Amino acid sequence: MDRRSSNGKDRAGGLEISENDLWLLSYYRESELAGGLLMGRLARETDDDDLRVRLTEHCAEEVAHAWAWTETILKVGGRPKRVRETYQSRYYAALGDPSSMLEILALTQIFERRVVRHFRAHLSWPDVHPEVAKTLQRLIDEEVGHIRWVKDRLDAYSATHGQRVVDEMMAKFQGVDEEVYAELSRFRNSFESVAGPRHAEDEGARCEIEERLTQMVAEVLNRDDPQLRPGSQLADLGVDSLDLVVFMMAVEEEFEVEFSREDQKRVRTLADVAARIRERQGRLVVV
Ligand SMILES: [Fe+2]
Ligand SMILES: [Fe+2]
Repeated sequence: MDRRSSNGKDRAGGLEISENDLWLLSYYRESELAGGLLMGRLARETDDDDLRVRLTEHCAEEVAHAWAWTETILKVGGRPKRVRETYQSRYYAALGDPSSMLEILALTQIFERRVVRHFRAHLSWPDVHPEVAKTLQRLIDEEVGHIRWVKDRLDAYSATHGQRVVDEMMAKFQGVDEEVYAELSRFRNSFESVAGPRHAEDEGARCEIEERLTQMVAEVLNRDDPQLRPGSQLADLGVDSLDLVVFMMAVEEEFEVEFSREDQKRVRTLADVAARIRERQGRLVVV
């Protein structure tokens, strides 16, 4: 069996691909899963009977793709990594949440095309592990079906609302997609820096979410502590369970996310809250 990775680096232990490729496959897996969850949520919400069927099928296939990557990772001797973002969460960082069905369809179409093009490119990289190649090929074949049904829906939208509004939306998203892809391509051989844990505190740099959460502690809970850090225990600030409920509701509103009871139970620090926000935002994405 080939003991070298697709980027030519030697591998350690039982892993038959490089650590970098493991991060990359874990990122593919996470993005498929996020897309499946979004499609499922839309399937539950839509009033359109035909769309409900399409979205449910799309959900099922994206979740199956997430499982295909999971199996592939296991077959090459790895375990799926916990990934902190998805390809599509970068769309949302640039565009905000899609607010209409047209936006969701257009974004899905742009993304599905990107997936197919990227998977074809990945297949052409040197020394792709045969199991990875097999999964890439299978998914390329299946993503084509997603492009088809979304295109049919976009054509129907054009017929009712005019071609121009659809073309403009597609052009806007296309531009964002090209920027996102170009940015990510820079990290092809250092993918952990994209998908892996961020060491914001270690670097002394707090990102935007943590910064806003710190302000919110002062605004919502009236606790303005200059020593407050993302890793600080909220209990140490005297934040009790009722305060936490109030705070989490304010955070939901501020970041336009929804937390489960489980999320609330798991929160001990602002870093935990930030992680839940990223998870929730990561789910609002399309594969
Ligand atoms: Fe997929
Ligand atoms: Fe897809």
